[in-house]
Amino acid sequence: MSARHVTLVTGASGGIGADFARVFAYHGHDLALVARSKDRLEALASEIAATSRPRPLLIVADLTEKDAIDTVAAQLQAADANVDILVNNAGYGLAGVVTGLDAQDELGIIDLNVRALVDLTLRFAPQIRAAKGGILNVASIAAYMPGPGMAVYYASKAFVRSFSLALWQEMRRDGVTVTLLCPGLTLTGFQARANFKVTHSMARFAGASPMEVAEAGYAGLVAKRRVVVPGIINRIFIIIVPLLPDALILPVVAHMQGLKAKSM
Ligand SMILES: NC(=O)c1ccc[n+]([C@@H]2O[C@H](COP(=O)([O-])OP(=O)(O)OC[C@H]3O[C@@H](n4cnc5c(N)ncnc54)[C@H](OP(=O)(O)O)[C@@H]3O)[C@@H](O)[C@H]2O)c1
Repeated sequence: MSARHVTLVTGASGGIGADFARVFAYHGHDLALVARSKDRLEALASEIAATSRPRPLLIVADLTEKDAIDTVAAQLQAADANVDILVNNAGYGLAGVVTGLDAQDELGIIDLNVRALVDLTLRFAPQIRAAKGGILNVASIAAYMPGPGMAVYYASKAFVRSFSLALWQEMRRDGVTVTLLCPGLTLTGFQARANFKVTHSMARFAGASPMEVAEAGYAGLVAKRRVVVPGIINRIFIIIVPLLPDALILPVVAHMQGLKAKSM
């Protein structure tokens, strides 16, 4: 029996990741889905299977745990599945003054957004290279600026951006596409997890739905684009922001993140 060739999507139990699963399935990809919430993964797998697509492989794992990537790799191997495309989507942030937040929770952001993303990339790079497949890394427009009020999250996404661009350069000679996806504010479970209050004026900027973000990421990967930023306002934002001095950007971002003037 020949190996199953899958698109591995992390953080697929909700938000943008669940819509990535729907979009890739719609375009005929066989899937392996990772998250901690077994029930939500099973409901999504049933939804996809009901559209006459193959039922996705489900891997219930907490990717912040040190041996999580071993678990993912072992379960794929047990199912005789090779990863052709990797979608590093799982991630979270925490709003607040960095020194006032729970330190373990903050370090968990690095474990998930950075460490797991790199570990998965290194682990499956040989299979992706053999398939001349692709890697879709989800960062954020936060990758383009420092983030007082969400400092570790913004820094983690700056890492994802830098790493992904370097990987694009290194892997293109192998025929592997690396696409960096930088969404702006998108209404998902992210805001509740981050304890981040979305104001009315911010909600107006939440121009893209999770499905639109997932579709933009998929289209960018297929078109072999290096960077995808959904939404015209977000595209203008990331061009202008790096041109401005830190002295201006820092208080503006702090205000956007809801920091009170006294803590700026
Ligand atoms: N929403 C936005 O405004 C926005 C903007 C820019 C970038 N992004 C990025 O988009 C990506 C997806 O976020 P989202 O908005 O869809 O957030 P979401 O709705 O909170 O979904 C996050 C996903 O990650 C999974 N996850 C969280 N912790 C995990 C862990 N320890 N191990 C394994 N899976 C874990 C969650 O599933 P379980 O809880 O079941 O594990 C869920 O499936 C993230 O990288 C985020 O930084 C979001």
